[in-house]
Amino acid sequence: MEPQTPSPAPAPGRSRITAPLSGLPDLTGRTAVVTGGAGGLGLATARGLARKGADVLLGVRDTERGEQARRRLIEQDHVRPQQVAIAQLDLLDLASVHRFAAEAARRPLDILVLNAGISSVPLRLSRQGVESQFATNHLGHFALAGRLLDVLGQGTDPRVVTVSSALYKGGVLDVDDLAGAHGYSPGRAYSRSKLANTMFAVELGHRLAESDSPVRSFAAHPGMARTPLHTTYPSAVTRVATAVAARVIGRDPGPAAVAVLTAAASAQVDPRLFWGPAGSRTRPDALGVPFAAVATDRSAARRLWSASVRLTGVDPWG
Ligand SMILES: NC(=O)c1ccc[n+]([C@@H]2O[C@H](COP(=O)([O-])OP(=O)(O)OC[C@H]3O[C@@H](n4cnc5c(N)ncnc54)[C@H](OP(=O)(O)O)[C@@H]3O)[C@@H](O)[C@H]2O)c1
Repeated sequence: MEPQTPSPAPAPGRSRITAPLSGLPDLTGRTAVVTGGAGGLGLATARGLARKGADVLLGVRDTERGEQARRRLIEQDHVRPQQVAIAQLDLLDLASVHRFAAEAARRPLDILVLNAGISSVPLRLSRQGVESQFATNHLGHFALAGRLLDVLGQGTDPRVVTVSSALYKGGVLDVDDLAGAHGYSPGRAYSRSKLANTMFAVELGHRLAESDSPVRSFAAHPGMARTPLHTTYPSAVTRVATAVAARVIGRDPGPAAVAVLTAAASAQVDPRLFWGPAGSRTRPDALGVPFAAVATDRSAARRLWSASVRLTGVDPWG
């Protein structure tokens, strides 16, 4: 179904929420799903939500690592054992996405954080013949969100938070070249996947509003965070440069996840802005800024949406 009424209210210029975590509501009784929950920002996000009382289901590629993360939340963060569960999820494998969605849909769901991701890896194709960063970061999440929108629609203040990157602004998206056949650059493919994440979040927001759904869609990013994400660059020079940059200007996963947590739960956050951390390295504010024009072109977003439906077989409004 193509939307007919593209008339969203204008977004505010920018918005800053100071000490956003102190203002988050109690999330007791709510359930959150976080993909990539075994480490990095996903684990930090799950920790933040669980500390506010939410039950969390971590989507993990490796269940042994997932179990270690679960134990860490229980033993170090004093999360109640019944508050945290794990389930296997490989976003590159659509059968795994469907199994995970079925598991997630067995419980009420209020918050879906599409966090997992890979960055700047060598060229590899999914079973559908799609370059792996686009397939993992965007398509797997598109299918998962599509499968869970109905159950989210029954939730309390239900939200989908897509974790993107400020690098989306440099992305170029050609939905007719998703195999990377016309020259592959690991960095450009990452930016493209993050542009797809951001376009998806914006377009999902429009479609939810147009269908009077209570679910809201947010896009957030962690700035530069000290996680293993940057260790996969094929170029040693880029790997070293990024590691140095992460050490000098990056944040640890906890503070880096502040905008994702704000988007997931704050009452003050506006879905028409792109949220990231700002200011202090250890206690950042959450800053919402307008989306770049490249993410708000609705005809391009519709082409991305159609290609995503075709490639995943999941049509959120089908
Ligand atoms: N770190 C940064 O500076 C930065 C900056 C901008 C945006 N981001 C975004 O933040 C998000 C989280 O990244 P991070 O920094 O926390 O990286 P990370 O520590 O490498 O975590 C990435 C997570 O994604 C999971 N993952 C990778 N491929 C997967 C797949 N096929 N199926 C399911 N899960 C998969 C990983 O699982 P395993 O545990 O099995 O490896 C891991 O848990 C990503 O979307 C990334 O693009 C990060």
